[in-house]
Amino acid sequence: MSSDSSSPQSSAVINEAVQSLRDGGLVAFPTETVYGLGADAKNPEAIKKVFAAKGRPSNHPLIVHVAAPDKFDQAQVDWVPVLAPWVRDISEDALKLMHAFWPGPLTLVFKKDKSVPLEATGGQDTVAIRAPAHPLAQELLRKFKGGIVGPSANRFGKVSPTSAADVRSEFEGMLDLMILDGGDCKVGIESTIIDLSSGDRAVLLRPGLITPGEILAKTGIHVYLPGESIQAKEGGDLPRVSGSLRAHYAPTTPLRMYSPGRVLDALSEFPDIKSRVAVAVWDSDSSLGDDGHPSVHFEEMVVPSDSTAFASRLYRSLRDLDQQGWDLILFPEPPTGEEWDGVRDRLQRACFGSGPSSSSHASN
Ligand code: TXA
Ligand code: MG
Repeated sequence: MSSDSSSPQSSAVINEAVQSLRDGGLVAFPTETVYGLGADAKNPEAIKKVFAAKGRPSNHPLIVHVAAPDKFDQAQVDWVPVLAPWVRDISEDALKLMHAFWPGPLTLVFKKDKSVPLEATGGQDTVAIRAPAHPLAQELLRKFKGGIVGPSANRFGKVSPTSAADVRSEFEGMLDLMILDGGDCKVGIESTIIDLSSGDRAVLLRPGLITPGEILAKTGIHVYLPGESIQAKEGGDLPRVSGSLRAHYAPTTPLRMYSPGRVLDALSEFPDIKSRVAVAVWDSDSSLGDDGHPSVHFEEMVVPSDSTAFASRLYRSLRDLDQQGWDLILFPEPPTGEEWDGVRDRLQRACFGSGPSSSSHASN
């Protein structure tokens, strides 16, 4: 791991990445959540290259990553000048959220400044901003002295990459893609997204490591769930959150969830599968034991029963399992509780989009 000054990425390499961004090129970079596919957020031509590389529809908005001031004390940072080039109104709630969670795995959606290219926002008048905590991302952002759009560095609908090697395998054909190696991502699932653009209430658009409960405890701000919020405003039929498509984050091997003790039920959909079934089991359970089926061979894989540890390895496990040629992958349904909402959300979408035809699902 490389997340400190012993980073294997020398400053010469970072300078080269900065130059590439200034020249309108793409640079993949590590964050604490997943790797991003970066481009200059004020260069429409560069942004178009990001959409082309990912195969992502151009009306799906991107997150603009910004630098935290150098040598900061988290509670003291003045975020107003950092946001000024991007955002129109910064509310008291926004300041509280930034002080409590930035830099970190939290993305905030604001009304955009008119200088932000519509290419970055999928044509919307709002913009998503995040200050990532990963030191290498911060170094890149500080040296670049601008915002960097960074969708997850995967092909549209596929599993997000949590290592430099994962990014390489997503973009095998793009031999000239520069990838900064910052080791394995610690959080492992994408940032929590909160919409502040309505001005009156904070709405959860994507669950992640930072939960509404933690936000309430640290800032006193009540985060509404999308169902609780005011119905879609103007432009409500735009895909405000591409990750909210039912199929996303998906492996090509069929993936399903099973409820406690009901592994065989999950198999009923696949009557022909007799072998090569990988089953994830909680580390807190001994194993499937004798619950198996005499004619089906299960291969067990232990997964952490702690939500944070589970999230940090989820995409790694999905990618590795996808490479191993299983006929079917089964994961246990995450328990209830908001700390599991992020992984439950990703697993549900991964299941829905999984299988050989996942790309056709995902692009719907
Ligand atoms: O953790 C993360 O957020 C990672 C790392 C690289 O920072 N990035 C990431 O980007 O997950 P992406 O593009 O894969 O997902 C960004 C999500 C999309 O679902 C997008 O629709 C939503 O953010 N988003 C971006 N701008 C938005 C806006 N103006 N309003 C609502 N949602 C927005
Ligand atoms: Mg993504």
